[in-house]
Amino acid sequence: MRQTTLSGESLVEEYKRTHPGSQKWHERAVRFFAADGTTHQERVLVPFRPYITHAKGSRKWDVDGNEYIDCIMGHGALILGHSHPAVVQAVQEQMAKGVHYSENHELEVEWAELIRTMMPAAERIEFFACGQETNMMAIRLARVFTGRRKILRFEHNYHGWSEEIARQGSAGVMAPEVKIIPMNDLNKVEEELAKKEYAIIMTEGGGANMAGQVPWDTDFIRALSGLAHKYGTVWHIDEVVTGFREAPGGWQSTVGVTPDLTALGKCVGGGLPVGAVVGRADIMDAFNPKTPLERHVRHPGTWNAIPLICAAGIAACKLYLNGEPHKKARELGAYLRQEGNKVLKERNISGRLYGRTIVHLHLGPIDYEPSDDTLPPTKDVQKIMNPAMVPIRARLSLHLLQRGIATYGTRFFVLSAAHTEEDIDQTVEAFGSALDGMLTEGTIEAAK
Ligand SMILES: Cc1ncc(COP(=O)(O)O)c(C=O)c1O
Repeated sequence: MRQTTLSGESLVEEYKRTHPGSQKWHERAVRFFAADGTTHQERVLVPFRPYITHAKGSRKWDVDGNEYIDCIMGHGALILGHSHPAVVQAVQEQMAKGVHYSENHELEVEWAELIRTMMPAAERIEFFACGQETNMMAIRLARVFTGRRKILRFEHNYHGWSEEIARQGSAGVMAPEVKIIPMNDLNKVEEELAKKEYAIIMTEGGGANMAGQVPWDTDFIRALSGLAHKYGTVWHIDEVVTGFREAPGGWQSTVGVTPDLTALGKCVGGGLPVGAVVGRADIMDAFNPKTPLERHVRHPGTWNAIPLICAAGIAACKLYLNGEPHKKARELGAYLRQEGNKVLKERNISGRLYGRTIVHLHLGPIDYEPSDDTLPPTKDVQKIMNPAMVPIRARLSLHLLQRGIATYGTRFFVLSAAHTEEDIDQTVEAFGSALDGMLTEGTIEAAK
């Protein structure tokens, strides 16, 4: 763990002193990128996040030579870690053979076969450039299939930023056909579906916000398929994060459900940008050119299943087949929960780590100790999503960065099969030291 002094010097001053190169790049970047010099909203941090030069396995390094254990892992895409040799080799070889043929090619078929092997519900497969495109197409397919327009979604579930899948009410977003209801309320779902107006009901795989910051009640999820079919609505699971991260069959295989449509992204491409909608042949037949014009869905797209991405996807999916990467990441998640929760308890800080291969940090009231430590210690969504915690999490995030641990706002620690027990030990040590720093400076309080 990188040592931090906090002796007379403020954390921000110390961070700036140890990141002079990143500060220079930040000063250049703010002239271009309106989001405080960043190209992604999650990378906004006062004073600035580090500028990274390279990454390997579980680690990455910045322009000043600082090393980080990466607990973001390509926004969840890198279950195999950075630059897995099999993916690197596949991409390098394919790059030399051609990025884009503008023609059919063997790799797209081979990739689709691997996906179907792992996820039998993938009767048909359609590739896209990213996860949110996949969700947008799922909506269109459902509309064409049902002849309805409306979309039923759940609070806190993330599906992308375009009009109908963005957080409603945020600037520039107005989608009157979208209805958003609380999670895990079956009566409310039935009340809405019974209106027989909804084309699609959308659910984020694993729970809201990166695989389950707000978890689903399993009985609720198992009831959704029956309810959706009863009222003629297409049930969609967005497994952009969880597909091929939780298990070879995706999160749906772990809870034993089969949706009508599934969105894949992130891990399915081995770390390169990708999306795929997979599911029922009768719904996806809308792509078939023999379908009558009024039910025929067109799907152009420059980047659909280009050879370079297929090569990475195939290399990664071959490694997913035996479930070993997922098992290792799950075990490391359990170890991080166990050791990290000791750190919180020793300091009498009200909070818990929970989750699976993505471990979430709850900071706030503990309503009960769940017997299953993958679950948060409260069922109250307001306590889990409490906006008052955002600055505290941001402060913790800076403390952790200064100690060599990269997270986004300490909402979660994304693990991979490339992480090791030693990485977790270092992360836990840094977590304890960061919390001690915050207790000393008074930015977090121990419970009374
Ligand atoms: C659950 C979920 N769905 C969809 C998306 C959008 O995917 P992309 O950023 O590839 O468009 C994300 C991105 O984080 C996601 O977490």
